[in-house]
Amino acid sequence: MGTHIKSAADIAAMRVAGKLASEVLDYITPFVLPGVTTGKLDELCHNYMVDVQSTIPAPLNYSPGGHSPYPKSICTSVNHQVCHGIPGDRVLKSGDIVNLDITVIKDGYHGDTSRMFEVGNVPKHIQRLCKVTYECMWRGIRAVKAGAHLGDIGHAIQVYAESSGYSVVREFCGHGIGTVFHEDPQVLHYGRPGTGLKLKAGMIFTIEPMINAGQAKIRQLADGWTIVTADHSPSAQWEHTILVTEEGFEVLTVSDGTPAPA
Ligand code: MF3
Ligand code: CO
Ligand code: CO
Repeated sequence: MGTHIKSAADIAAMRVAGKLASEVLDYITPFVLPGVTTGKLDELCHNYMVDVQSTIPAPLNYSPGGHSPYPKSICTSVNHQVCHGIPGDRVLKSGDIVNLDITVIKDGYHGDTSRMFEVGNVPKHIQRLCKVTYECMWRGIRAVKAGAHLGDIGHAIQVYAESSGYSVVREFCGHGIGTVFHEDPQVLHYGRPGTGLKLKAGMIFTIEPMINAGQAKIRQLADGWTIVTADHSPSAQWEHTILVTEEGFEVLTVSDGTPAPA
């Protein structure tokens, strides 16, 4: 399986899907408050996708090899949950951080993006983790350009995360995306400059670093999906879907509420 070079028509459709995914995050932002359950956030996002956008929530019943079907429409990963947290009865409280990860399908094309949310008053050191992780994503994005290598992206992320005193999760990575949710290439969030696949204009993939305040080691919970830090240290993640261009990159998951580049 080679890495796809998208056509002009594919790229146009990916801009639409990317904007819609980002608009789900804009929509849900005012609801992310102390007292709300992760299940309520899922329900609100599900209804917005299906009823307002006429998009399909890609996570719902998603079942890649070896996994039970994912039971909800978004991922809600709280505090020491790294990714793929399943929404449910958990009540968010002041001091929590939560990643909301949205993937929509529109006209067969996927848009995939996530942001961190601070619930109420979050301790300064945990705010710093979220901010450094955002900067990590952006350092990775700024390494994207036709002729650059995947290792340049990983290196940029790893150096900034580790020099900030944090660690990079190794088992999960960014991914090619288009009419398929997860396709080649795998975009590692660590690496060495000049190594790995050489980027070409028209490639589309996500950059979605998961950065732990403590050690990099992770565990999967018995629900078959939720990933947590082994040492229970907090973890943060941000994600954009990116088009490689001759000059650099275009972020596809943008909307009115997208945070400004770091
Ligand atoms: N959106 C996640 C990603 O960034 C994947 C979620 S798969 C799910 O790749 F099944 F957990 F939703
Ligand atoms: Co993704
Ligand atoms: Co995602």
